[in-house]
Amino acid sequence: MVLLLRKMTFSHNKNFLMRKKIVAGNWKMNKVLDEAVALTSELVNMAKDEVRNDAKIILCPPAIYLTTIQKYIEDAPNFALAAQNCSDKVSGAFTGEISAQMLQSIGVQYVLIGHSERRQYFNETNALLAEKVNTALSFGVSPIFCCGESLEQRQNEDYIGFVKNQLTESLFHLSEEQLKSVVIAYEPIWAIGTGLTASAEQAQEMHAALRAHIASKYGAEVADEISILYGGSVTAASAPELFASPDIDGGLVGGASLKSREFTNIIKAR
Ligand code: PGA
Repeated sequence: MVLLLRKMTFSHNKNFLMRKKIVAGNWKMNKVLDEAVALTSELVNMAKDEVRNDAKIILCPPAIYLTTIQKYIEDAPNFALAAQNCSDKVSGAFTGEISAQMLQSIGVQYVLIGHSERRQYFNETNALLAEKVNTALSFGVSPIFCCGESLEQRQNEDYIGFVKNQLTESLFHLSEEQLKSVVIAYEPIWAIGTGLTASAEQAQEMHAALRAHIASKYGAEVADEISILYGGSVTAASAPELFASPDIDGGLVGGASLKSREFTNIIKAR
């Protein structure tokens, strides 16, 4: 009931209607080429036949497949591509790295920045992520900025303050115009790949707090325009309730995005 009332309030706000609805699939380090192509073809076909909403669908394949996958989504106007990472540097002697300019040069529109696996296994800090955000934006690639707390932080600390601080330190130096190009993905670490999904109430609490935090710096109108996705064990079963929450504008999906039927059902839930 509370959710319903909030949604009605928001739907009377024209800015709410302007927010992009997004379902993104993060394939992580999975699939060989044939499998990646098959998954994409299946998704495009299913979306064409079954998806009756205006959701933007963003596929985040391993970088090595971006140009190939691009050909398979060419005629699917609501599909777009994201890289899973990019360098904070513009170019130069950084063996193995991929730059935002390279992504721009092959027409990739989005890049995941600050996924918790990058923070955890590759020691990416809020300060480094601020640099990556800057570099991506300077080449016209929109960051999908990931944030979220660990289970320990949720249990022992001010977990909302912790996530707000991730935004402050990596995004709040941006101009209003720059921030509007950023998508935020709240992904509690304890829900990623664990089968534990945050409840719609838990996710909504954080999304509303993050939107209020953005509003405190950039004003309510800007905050209302920013898409905030939820990620962490999203499935076709959990998606409808999560996506119905007023401040949840779609999802960043890992495991369930590797299966075409499951991912299509998540998109339909949008
Ligand atoms: P998951 O991954 O859906 O498998 O939990 C989400 C993510 O890491 O983006």
